[in-house]
Amino acid sequence: MPNAVVMTGYGPPEVLRWAGVPRAEPGAGQVRIKVKAAGISPTDLALRAGYLKAFPLPPDAVLGFEVAGTVDAVGPGVTGASAGDGVAALLLGLGGYAEYAVASIWARKPGTVSWIDAAALPTSAEAAAGVLRQLGVRAGETLLLFGGGGSVGIIATQLAVARGVTVISAVGEHDETLARELGATPVRYGPGVAGRVRALGPVDAVFDAAGTGVLADAIALAGGPERVITLSDPAAADFGVTLSEATPGRAPGALDETIALLAEGRLRLRAHKSMPMRQAAEAHRQLEGGKVHERIILTLP
Ligand SMILES: NC(=O)c1ccc[n+]([C@@H]2O[C@H](COP(=O)([O-])OP(=O)(O)OC[C@H]3O[C@@H](n4cnc5c(N)ncnc54)[C@H](OP(=O)(O)O)[C@@H]3O)[C@@H](O)[C@H]2O)c1
Repeated sequence: MPNAVVMTGYGPPEVLRWAGVPRAEPGAGQVRIKVKAAGISPTDLALRAGYLKAFPLPPDAVLGFEVAGTVDAVGPGVTGASAGDGVAALLLGLGGYAEYAVASIWARKPGTVSWIDAAALPTSAEAAAGVLRQLGVRAGETLLLFGGGGSVGIIATQLAVARGVTVISAVGEHDETLARELGATPVRYGPGVAGRVRALGPVDAVFDAAGTGVLADAIALAGGPERVITLSDPAAADFGVTLSEATPGRAPGALDETIALLAEGRLRLRAHKSMPMRQAAEAHRQLEGGKVHERIILTLP
């Protein structure tokens, strides 16, 4: 029986336990992956703590929306992947903190991309590409991005800049240099941010990749809620703003496109460190404690 980090209930990091789980079979259009690395995302922490009970989890749920590893088995109808292929995968139904994961959305991992980088890519790349697509930002337009120093924001900045979009990036002081290096104009987030953005000129669309309390400013700056999208602000509906959720069709091809950019050295990711997967509870503790400023990627030998 393979092992996984099982969520034994909602609560503090201690609910995460390394335990035996049944080995899932890949269904039609799916591959089973022998996992080498699995990304921890902010949503994992919120799910575990019980803040997102609107998305109920089954008993003994396994967290993790993204993995990298080798294909171990393919389900009926799969073309373009076979056992032994290295892949990065987006797991819309979770299951990443495990020795084996089943995926419907994956991309071949070029040999020059590490397992850890490949596991850090899928959720952020899909969200970044998906929201840019939903906003329909075009060359010559100005995009205001909240959270430009985060995992999603860093990728969104680079994809938008590469398309000829002017990006104003609302970031903390510690991320101003990074935003500039990625081709954006940084403004400090927090009180007064709307005035600082106005001083730079008009904004066509707003991407909220911070997810907390920026929608009133976003709407004022964009001239209405139509071209404002948030990834996680629960107040979105109150503001008439779209809350963008990961779906199979949100960003087709995003994983292939971004992993190729990564292989070519043309895409930077948020800084990350790795920890053995068995230490998932400790990794969650460190992230919640705010003492680590990198992402944490869980690894298996
Ligand atoms: N719906 C989806 O499909 C989807 C997919 C991926 C992620 N998400 C959600 O999207 C959000 C971002 O994800 P992530 O992985 O990029 O998280 P992340 O790496 O933690 O980045 C969040 C960034 O937001 C910044 N921030 C905090 N408050 C801000 C404010 N008021 N204005 C501007 N920036 C602010 C943070 O800066 P500091 O470091 O200064 O705090 C940080 O750089 C999370 O809530 C995540 O759960 C949703």
